[in-house]
Amino acid sequence: MERVNRVALIGTGFVGSSYAFALLNQGVADELVMIDLNKDKSEGDAMDLNHGLAFAPNYTKIWYGDYMYCKDADIVVITAGANQKPGETRLDLVEKNATIFKSIVDQVMGAGFNGIFVVATNPVDVLTHMTWKFSGLPSHRVIGSGTILDTARLRYSLGEYFEVDARNVHGYIMGEHGDSELPVWSQANIGGRSIHEVIRDNPEKYKEEDLEDLFIGVRDAAYHIIERKGATYYGIAMGLVRLTKAILHNENSILTVSAYLNGEYGQDDIYIGVPAVVNRSGVREVLELTLNEKEKEQFTHSANVLKETLAPVLQ
Ligand code: LAC
Repeated sequence: MERVNRVALIGTGFVGSSYAFALLNQGVADELVMIDLNKDKSEGDAMDLNHGLAFAPNYTKIWYGDYMYCKDADIVVITAGANQKPGETRLDLVEKNATIFKSIVDQVMGAGFNGIFVVATNPVDVLTHMTWKFSGLPSHRVIGSGTILDTARLRYSLGEYFEVDARNVHGYIMGEHGDSELPVWSQANIGGRSIHEVIRDNPEKYKEEDLEDLFIGVRDAAYHIIERKGATYYGIAMGLVRLTKAILHNENSILTVSAYLNGEYGQDDIYIGVPAVVNRSGVREVLELTLNEKEKEQFTHSANVLKETLAPVLQ
């Protein structure tokens, strides 16, 4: 019997249902079980998605179920929890979502789950750490979406600015998925050419000082979307599908996920957004980029922000 890739999705709100829709349309998994306290919403989503199967690239078995189906899941994706309201930071959500997570992870592990957790709920770095603690799984098998979306926003914005396909723009956002994140300009390039070289060689078109405005737009993007439509969900959903695909298809892809550090970048015992190689085993390894002094300071600051947020909730 050929191996079946099963994803269990916990939470079918805006992010969860967008993730399910993207997963089906990209044909990434063989099975998707949707779990939510709101049975009607979750069951309705499963029915609605099944009616699109005839248009999908391949068959995906989709159903509403309960936690028992996590037993044979390869990946459990958690999107459940409260999301930011206008004016709220992601860190403001920690108390209410930490309580929800204890209950979720206990039920998933109680079903006999032995796969990989993918966490999206904010504050994602803190909740990924807590999922690791609550689950008892090895740290490389608990992964947060981290700055995967922030990096995509950066690539999009640089692509627009330099008028090139975002897929040929290489640059990372690292740190907290939140206000203390940082752009790694020293490593950013367009098709292999440093962006600083491109700017230097085209002074009539580009300016170094534009990069700061561009980064601020990336860092604060969620606030501007939430002001307009109340939540963000398409971008993060597509980032979660990208991460799911890297795992299920054993791709060894480099993605800026929230990964556990064991000394990398001078940090220990913390989940934070870093470039990491992701495959069927989870995080295969964290990539240690050469950061310049400013980037090192910013990364350390971001790590400290997360440690200060985490400490009270882990007690
Ligand atoms: C955002 C949410 C996922 O950045 O935190 O859109």
